[in-house]
Amino acid sequence: MCGIIGCILDNKKAAPILLDCVSRLEYRGYDSVGIATSGSEIKIKKDKGKIEDVHKNLKLTDLPGARGIAHVRWATHGLPTKENAHPHTDCKNKIAVVHNGIIENYKELKSKLEDEGHIFKSDTDTEVIPHLIEKYMDEGNDLESATRLAIGNLKGSYAIAAISDDEPNKVIGARKESPLIVGKGENEYFIASDAPAILHHTNKVIYLEDHEMVILNEDGILIKDSEGHEIQKEVFTIDWTPDMAEKGGFDHFMLKEIHEQPEAVKNTLLESSEIEKIVKDFPKFNRICFVACGTSYHASLTGKYLFEKLVGIPTDVTLASEFEYSADTLDENTLVILITQSGETADTLKALRLVNHKAKTLAIVNVLGSTITREAEYVVYTRAGPEIGVAATKTYLAQLTAIYLLAIHMGGKKELLEKLNKIPSYMKSSLQKEEHIKEIAQKYRDAQDFFFIGRGFSYPTAMEGALKLKEITYIHAEGYASGELKHGPLALIDDGVPVVAVVPPGRSHDKTLSNVEEVKARGAHVIGLGSSLDDDLKAEVHDLIEFDDEIDEMFSSIPYVIPLQLLSYYISVMKGIDPDKPKNLAKCVTVE
Ligand code: AGP
Ligand code: GLU
Repeated sequence: MCGIIGCILDNKKAAPILLDCVSRLEYRGYDSVGIATSGSEIKIKKDKGKIEDVHKNLKLTDLPGARGIAHVRWATHGLPTKENAHPHTDCKNKIAVVHNGIIENYKELKSKLEDEGHIFKSDTDTEVIPHLIEKYMDEGNDLESATRLAIGNLKGSYAIAAISDDEPNKVIGARKESPLIVGKGENEYFIASDAPAILHHTNKVIYLEDHEMVILNEDGILIKDSEGHEIQKEVFTIDWTPDMAEKGGFDHFMLKEIHEQPEAVKNTLLESSEIEKIVKDFPKFNRICFVACGTSYHASLTGKYLFEKLVGIPTDVTLASEFEYSADTLDENTLVILITQSGETADTLKALRLVNHKAKTLAIVNVLGSTITREAEYVVYTRAGPEIGVAATKTYLAQLTAIYLLAIHMGGKKELLEKLNKIPSYMKSSLQKEEHIKEIAQKYRDAQDFFFIGRGFSYPTAMEGALKLKEITYIHAEGYASGELKHGPLALIDDGVPVVAVVPPGRSHDKTLSNVEEVKARGAHVIGLGSSLDDDLKAEVHDLIEFDDEIDEMFSSIPYVIPLQLLSYYISVMKGIDPDKPKNLAKCVTVE
């Protein structure tokens, strides 16, 4: 949801660096882009469209000045148009602001400001911010105090960066509920929505908390609390390298990230002893509740099956956006596990805030220092490295790895670690199926609908396969528990409809196979995923994706999902879609 950047550089032109940084945030939003730089006067270039196209037309790097702010937008209020693109300005075009978040009371503020004579140029909620700053500067405040007074009026969420003609040597940042980090380079200072944006310039970062403000100028960084008192904050060193956030020879980040999965799982397996330590500290729980959104929700669903099997504690899974409607019965005997790659998802953060101190909370997160890691009682890091593609791939498998480790240690089933440690080698063979998957993609690329089915551990895999396909190919796809088909969706199966059946060896195998026969009898084309020794499955399916027979259903969740990611990826590319930037979506969803 929008990416913002601000920087103060030492005698370097800011615009090319702002453009580079903001391009690295494009996964957060990509319907418009804009840059403002300050020197003798604020200069702005902005328009709707992808960064590359807007830059081609407007030459964004031509702006002068060594300080500035930039934005990529994922519109919440107002269509993606040039007028609604950030930065937004005050009446005199002397103040420019970029914003990530939603100002919930913007209508009320806008009408007050209009009554006071302010002229608005856009339909966004954001534009009230520069006008409020203008109002307070006109009353004699400096940029810092005016910004503090302005944000005091705001309800909702924001991470902002602001500059003004009157104080051209400053960039001000502030946050509430939307992420903002501060980067400390060699005589150059940054603010950014996310670390990968500035990794080429510095890996030293400070994480701002809600209601804190940062003032960047040539002399360095000042951080202040909501009252304006200076505070000292720890500087963290991020161990991600800049090339981790590059495509590294692949056509898309998504494909690179799919190929990085064995490494992501291996690195997360190294967290085993850390997880064992956390688990030793646990009181006795009588209930476990997973909370997450999207792909992280699918990892949680796998968690339910694993925890009930290995730990023996009743486990539920709730979508984070639904959590507030069903959290009343949680108490200190409940462990709430929040799963989120970004650590910033607004729905998940809200759920955490609702339940913190009422139940025990543990977050499984990929991004170091993100808001959720700072608020949850226990934190387990997944070691997937930065994920740029909007569709989650390697972070999903790293989350699953962390969940397996947690369940194994909580359940005292360390003998299963040996099996878990074999997973990266199974994953490598999954990746070798790429050419075969391309052929399958070619065959089904024009399908209107797709069904993904599985039971037990394979049900979340089916759900995830369907979500990937929807997200990046725009094909209608449903992930179903295969036993549920006959309760409704079977009516949608017709001649030639592709059904992907996840049928690893194990308890659910025979029943899913019967469901495969049911869909086949209605004309479906079945793409089966199963053991290379499974002759019964081979006899039923039109296309087969084979796996080592050793992989039973309990450990299938990781290797079996890889061909489904590749299938979506290749259909997306064949349809001419950019899988890294699917329409209407953003990587990090910081609004409810
Ligand atoms: C996955 O491909 C999606 N981009 C999306 O469903 C994502 O998993 C969801 O928004 C949750 O994000 P999080 O893990 O950062 O909380
Ligand atoms: N609400 C602002 C807009 O629509 C920012 C959106 C966001 O952060 O996602 O432009």
